[in-house]
Amino acid sequence: MAIKNKKLNLKDKYQYLTRDMAWEPTYQKKEDIYPDEQFEGIKITDWSQWEDPFRLTMDAYWKYQAEKEKKLYAIFDAFAQNNGHQNISDARYVNALKLFLSGVSPLEYAAFQGYARVGRQFSGAGARVACQLQAIDELRHSQTQQHAMSHYNKHFNGLHDASHQHDRVWFLSVPKSFFDDARSAGPFEFLTAISFSFEYVLTNLLFVPFMSGAAYNGDMATVTFGFSAQSDEARHMTLGLEVIKFILEQHEDNVPIIQRWIDKWFWRGFRLLSLVGMMMDYMLPNKVMSWSEAWEVYYEQNGGALFKDLERYGIRPPKYQDVANAAKDHVSHQAWSTFYQYSQATNFHTWMPEEEEMAWLSEKYPETFDKYYRARFEHWDKEHKQGRRFYNNTLPQLCQVCQIPVMFTEKDDPTVFSHRQIKHEGERYHFCSDGCCDIFKNEPEKYIQAWLPVHQIYQGNCGGADVPTVVEKYYHINLGVDNLEYHGSPDHERWLDIKGLKPLKSSSAKKSAA
Ligand SMILES: [Fe+2]
Ligand SMILES: [Fe+2]
Ligand SMILES: [Zn+2]
Repeated sequence: MAIKNKKLNLKDKYQYLTRDMAWEPTYQKKEDIYPDEQFEGIKITDWSQWEDPFRLTMDAYWKYQAEKEKKLYAIFDAFAQNNGHQNISDARYVNALKLFLSGVSPLEYAAFQGYARVGRQFSGAGARVACQLQAIDELRHSQTQQHAMSHYNKHFNGLHDASHQHDRVWFLSVPKSFFDDARSAGPFEFLTAISFSFEYVLTNLLFVPFMSGAAYNGDMATVTFGFSAQSDEARHMTLGLEVIKFILEQHEDNVPIIQRWIDKWFWRGFRLLSLVGMMMDYMLPNKVMSWSEAWEVYYEQNGGALFKDLERYGIRPPKYQDVANAAKDHVSHQAWSTFYQYSQATNFHTWMPEEEEMAWLSEKYPETFDKYYRARFEHWDKEHKQGRRFYNNTLPQLCQVCQIPVMFTEKDDPTVFSHRQIKHEGERYHFCSDGCCDIFKNEPEKYIQAWLPVHQIYQGNCGGADVPTVVEKYYHINLGVDNLEYHGSPDHERWLDIKGLKPLKSSSAKKSAA
């Protein structure tokens, strides 16, 4: 940078403190130092065009983060000392935290690893600094979430082995394979997948349900984390938008590649979010908003405006967006029904919604709930009351891409599964949808490697020849304690005791509390 006698403006000063530290190599070839920038087909003509998404120097980063940490840990301490877990709306709520700690927190850690790697791979020094700061933000999220949940882990079941379970439990391969897909991709796809599609387009559909859910349900620890992470997320979103605009502007040949990644990662992200939709509509005793409303505001409206804005780069909205929009009135009910019948093999409980919750669901889903889902729930409820609580003892068909059981339905007929199958090199593969089928067809050599939990159980690779053995020995899910129906569970008993409704006497409750 040519430094004249003039004082540097903010932008030039920040570049002087970041980019000007780097130099053109002489004794190593540039493509040997940065060997991962070419193979994805993305063309970068000039890294100096990169606009810094934020301008934080290290001393400013340490200072602002330290202030946040101090406040956060003061509240965690006070929460534990005052037994804040007793202030939640109802112990059913904690099941959302079990899902969070086993499904979401390990993704923070995976993001830390992924950003640490791309923070090395890019030859643009400005982009490296931005990714490195995100990497250590994600490390912070990972660690502060462990601390936020640690008090709950002492008082409730199902939180005791989250990262172990993330690697093994059937439904946790949904989030795990999502991030493994991104991390095994190249650096530009990683950023399009995570910074843009996930942290920018879909971020509010993950964070608002969990964090406002915590606020509506008296969970001070989780709210405080969410509040503290907000300013980190603002930076992450800015990076996501900057990245996509930069790549698109760099070369016209980048446009179709980015479009394919947007299509893929929108669909993968949307599938992952069906877990959140279910949590929002069913696992929060005090409701925040329906999944349908959340999707409408945060995707259809905000996402609609964003893709309108990206039109000038030649980008159209994600493929199968119409299918996702139509699914907003179904996914949470379909997912909850699935988990209800397979909660003999989950680290959290399920239950049937209470009368007033069903009324709320009817009101929020006027076209679909009474017509398709209420009768099923009332039937299961009746079965339960007659001593036949329904568990499905046959393992489900999984989608080869998203790894969710093939339980989603056709756009124009919610009574028909949108099952797809194809043959590839003599083998048969099954999918939940056209969206997942297309992703497979683009990169079959990737998805044929998937570790599908149900298949692995049948291959005998999960430590047992029957489901209870797999669940107990391989998953570390304590039978009769972490899994099954909420009503009558040790968590439920302990909650009734805390609230003075029924003294704790069952031996299983005592055993698990120990
Ligand atoms: Fe994060
Ligand atoms: Fe983030
Ligand atoms: Zn799928």
